[in-house]
Amino acid sequence: MTDAPAVAAPVDRTTQPWWRSAVFYQVYPRSFADSNGDGVGDLRGVRDKLGYLELLGVNALWVCPVMRSPMADGGYDVADPRDIDELFGGLTAMDDLIAEAHARQIKVTMDLVPNHTSDQHPWFREALAAAPGSRERDRYIFHDGRGPDGAEPPNNWPSIFGGPAWTRITEQDGTPGQWYLHLFAREQPDLNWDNPEVADDFEQTLRFWLDRGVDGFRLDVAHGMAKPDGLPDLPAVASGLFALDDDDVRFNNPAVHDIHRRIRKVVDEYPDAVTIGEVWVTDNTRFGEYVRADELHLAFNFRLAEAPFTAAAVRDAIDNSLAAVGPVFAVPTWTLSNHDIEREVTRYGGGAVGVARARAMILLELALPGAVFIYNGAELGLPNVDDLPDSVLQDPVWERSGHTERGRDGCRVPLPWEGAAPPFGFSTGSPWLPIPPEWAGLTVEAQLEELDSTLSLYRMAMELRAVRPEFDGDRIEWYGSPAGCLAFRRPGGLVCVLNASDTPTSLPPGDVLLASALPDGGQLPPNAAAWLV
Ligand code: NOJ
Repeated sequence: MTDAPAVAAPVDRTTQPWWRSAVFYQVYPRSFADSNGDGVGDLRGVRDKLGYLELLGVNALWVCPVMRSPMADGGYDVADPRDIDELFGGLTAMDDLIAEAHARQIKVTMDLVPNHTSDQHPWFREALAAAPGSRERDRYIFHDGRGPDGAEPPNNWPSIFGGPAWTRITEQDGTPGQWYLHLFAREQPDLNWDNPEVADDFEQTLRFWLDRGVDGFRLDVAHGMAKPDGLPDLPAVASGLFALDDDDVRFNNPAVHDIHRRIRKVVDEYPDAVTIGEVWVTDNTRFGEYVRADELHLAFNFRLAEAPFTAAAVRDAIDNSLAAVGPVFAVPTWTLSNHDIEREVTRYGGGAVGVARARAMILLELALPGAVFIYNGAELGLPNVDDLPDSVLQDPVWERSGHTERGRDGCRVPLPWEGAAPPFGFSTGSPWLPIPPEWAGLTVEAQLEELDSTLSLYRMAMELRAVRPEFDGDRIEWYGSPAGCLAFRRPGGLVCVLNASDTPTSLPPGDVLLASALPDGGQLPPNAAAWLV
């Protein structure tokens, strides 16, 4: 029994752009693999593990920022967007990574940060040294303060990381001066995209990397660059950290679409290149505007990552993700976690249940049409590390929230590769965040040959997804299913069943291609998913 029409003709995947059904693997370079023993992962570390990534079956890498940075926000504070930080091995290491990844048919996308720079960027230093109203100040968002002596910030905006979004500077003559806007940390001043110099410079950055061979970009805060006229106050400033709604005037202003059109024009000169926007916009129509034919190729849809583990919530997330892109003929994207989000094993309850659910969800995710994003370590079933000592926390959120929010370090703990004790082959030195000794059973080495491991499940699922014709077709049709379960079918014939209830459920007819937990007598256990053909 179906409640949506099937959609016909299998898709010829060879004529589709490569990213249309690609599996992107997100490398958080600081935490992936350290080649030089300084305790911080680097690009040679990534290069050394390309064999692993090939075995895993990923099509593309999304490499989080590695450009020159004082690392006030893990590299999202960029001091030179057209150079690679020595911490990560410099430009040569990037060139080598691109070349060797390409030799293995793996694409490389970089993470660019158009909304802001580091406060150590030469432009910002020039702005501080120049006078109010100068050309140098106009590359950022400087304003006089409100109230007597301009001692109050220009408006009431909070920073996403806590505290005010404005910092007051001291002018060259030593007097208290103007304020500059930073939607994130004070070390991340927002650029003024109304200034054509800013767009011109970003265009140079795009070309610089595309000419070096990168296959595209993840664009940070892609809904944030345009600011509203007059920078009006927020009606209520009660929102918590990261708590955004679609009407938040700090984001999603219509002029941002002109910026994306300009970026797209440049990227279109490199026909295979892709742009993926970080777009925290929930309304389907407004989200869809970002992936119109002349804007971003792809945008992250976070609904699946935000959905609790219930059939109704997961189905709703899928329906809305598809509904957001359908009217503009764009490709859906799926993501369960990233470097800003609590790891899914923990989100789904932790322990054995959390792992079982995370395994079920990756099967569900890989069964969907579109591009899939996997965050490094998810394939090992890593949990969040919620008991990091205060003294090691590095996320600026920790300081900016006055030590009330621990921030995102718990999902950024370095990966365990091999051996029985930390640092599990991640580094020969001391890792920048401690790795829990309990991860001995979760190392790549421990899981690689183990058929039932989460790593093996990922490998098998990705291989089947890449080669089986049952994954063809851009749509899904829902099947009726028992309470607490969901089932859908791809036009190519794949059926995916998720049992989010607390009792075993009967599987529909067909052969089980893969399951996250062994079906018993035709019954799929709770917290499990299966693929049937
Ligand atoms: C979104 C990135 O994913 C996050 O890690 C970063 O802190 C902010 N943008 C600011 O660049």
